[in-house]
Order: sequence, then C-alpha cells, then structure tokens
Amino acid sequence: MSSRSKILVTGSNGQLGKELQDLASSFPQFEFVFLSKEDLPIHNFELVRVFFDSVKPAFCINCAAYTAVDKAESEKELAFQINGEAVGVLAAVCKEHGTKFIHVSTDYVFNGEATYPYTENFPTDPVNTYGASKLEGEKQAMQLNPDCIIVRTSWVYSSHGKNFVKTMIRLMNEKDSISVVNDQVGSPTYAADLAEVILKIILWDQWHPGIYHYSNEGIISWYDFALAIKELSRANCKINPITTSQYPTPARRPAYSVLDKTKIQQTFGIKLKDWRESLAVCLNKLNRNSASSGVLVDP
Ligand SMILES: NC(=O)c1ccc[n+]([C@@H]2O[C@H](COP(=O)([O-])OP(=O)(O)OC[C@H]3O[C@@H](n4cnc5c(N)ncnc54)[C@H](OP(=O)(O)O)[C@@H]3O)[C@@H](O)[C@H]2O)c1
Repeated sequence: MSSRSKILVTGSNGQLGKELQDLASSFPQFEFVFLSKEDLPIHNFELVRVFFDSVKPAFCINCAAYTAVDKAESEKELAFQINGEAVGVLAAVCKEHGTKFIHVSTDYVFNGEATYPYTENFPTDPVNTYGASKLEGEKQAMQLNPDCIIVRTSWVYSSHGKNFVKTMIRLMNEKDSISVVNDQVGSPTYAADLAEVILKIILWDQWHPGIYHYSNEGIISWYDFALAIKELSRANCKINPITTSQYPTPARRPAYSVLDKTKIQQTFGIKLKDWRESLAVCLNKLNRNSASSGVLVDP
C-alpha cells in the first residue's frame, strides 16, 4: 500500500484541475486522486462521503465550481448549490476526516468600487449572482471548517478549457477587428501558476488557515490583455477599446478587481509572476499543442 499523502482534486477537468494534472508527476511525494464532475459531482453529498471514506485524503483541493458568470443570473439556485452549499459540505466532510481543505474563490466577491488593491479583510459586496454564490461558499467553508485555506484569484486562463485568451486568439484569427472592454481593470492569473502556488502551500512546513489573494503581478484592462495577446501571437486583427456600457452582459462585472497579494507572499514565501511573462508561457504551450495537432494558433 502507498504511504504517500493523498491529494484529492475535485472538478479536475476544469482549467485549474487540468493544470494540477499536468504538474502531478513533478510531485511524486503525493498520490493524486483526480475526480471530474462525472466522477464526483460535489453536490451529490452521499457520493462525497463515499469517496472520502474510501480515499481518506490528507488534502482536498476543490477546483469544482459553477463558473458561468452570465448564466448564473438565470440559474441562481444551481450556482448557489454548487458554489455555496456543496462547498460547505466538502469543508465539513474534510473536517470529519482530518483532511486539509483548500478551496478557490474569486475577486468577484468585491464590488469593484475600490481604487487600490483589495486586501483579504476588505468588506465583501458582490455585484452579481456568481460572486454572491462564491461568497456563500467562503462563508460556509470558514464556518464549518475554520482550519481551511481559501485562495481568491482573478481572470483565470490556461491552455486548457475555455477562457478569454483562447477566445481572443480564435476571434483574432476569424475577424479583421474586434472590440474589447477598456474600463474594467484587474490582474490575469495563469492557472498553471495558481496550481503551483497551491502545491507550495501544501508543501509549506506549517498550515496557515485563512483567506489569501493570488493572481499574477500587474494591473491591466481586458483591452490591454487583448493587445498583449495580439502582440505575442503576432495577429493582424485591429483591437478597439470600448466601455462596459457598450458591451452589456446579463451579469454586472466589478470595474476594479485588483487583489493585494502581500499576505500570501509573506505567509508562504510565494513569488509573484509577471502577467505578461506568464501569458507568453501559456501562448507558447498553446502553439506547441496546436503544432502537434496540426492547427495554427499563430496566423
Ligand atoms: N475562470 C476564472 O476566470 C476564475 C476567476 C476567479 C476565480 N475562479 C475560481 O477558480 C476556480 C477554478 O476555476 P476554473 O477556471 O478552473 O473553472 P472551470 O474551468 O470552469 O472548472 C470548473 C470545473 O468544475 C466542474 N464542475 C461544475 N459543477 C460541478 C459539480 N457540481 N461537481 C463537480 N465538478 C463540477 C466543471 O465541469 P463542467 O465544465 O462540465 O461544468 C469544470 O470542470 C473556481 O473556484 C472558480 O470559481 C475562476
């Protein structure tokens, strides 16, 4: 029987889950158990207990989430069930089993009216259903398992899954010009960097429960982000800056969602990576993947 510590990863086919899968072989001291939505729907509480009883994980990283920000406005109940109630149950089951619980949350718990980076104890005030459901998950996790760690992050992208970077590349290949919002600012997060940070937290010699903020370093708008994607992928498409009011969406977005990362740096010795450097790493990976599959990312 293996004596390695087990890490159970829920929602393992999402962006963060896939990045953890990519990293797993570099951490042979752990035995990873990756469970997708199909393997373990976290809102099936009986099944959650069955898995915990049989796997007996030392750590659980919850990558499962309802992340369809606009759709959440019309699927409020489902969003709260997955991002709220199910997170509370996971946290409680972790406590019962002595499993250290790491949960991931969002910059969207804030209202975006600040003018300087949000610290962890800044008052929350979500402006959309997704943010409210994620805040409910944070509250339930902290209440039912105060020993848990919650990492709030923002603007997540990866070579896996659906995200802004991949959508931009596709649109830049298809169109002569596109319009991108220039009055919402924040910090992108390469999911591979976040995955590394989470494993570093687990490997840190002491467990420090609480809420932490993590993203890549730098403050930009979605328009700036699109421009950098265009430059790095050498696309020819014209990018036009527009305002949020010119691009109405079902869910409101916070105008300013920059997270202050001082606490995670000081507690776990995390070094922040520059957003542009991480974007270049992701685009290189996408290029390698598309070259091997015969699809061109770089026009
Ligand atoms: N993406 C962002 O920009 C962003 C920003 C800030 C914070 N976050 C947070 O970061 C974390 C990771 O996000 P991500 O970008 O990796 O999200 P993602 O790519 O959408 O992955 C979430 C995964 O959870 C799965 N899932 C949905 N409902 C589930 C359920 N009931 N049981 C089990 N799995 C379920 C999804 O499956 P299906 O796809 O099949 O539904 C998907 O594979 C989440 O907590 C998210 O809220 C994300």
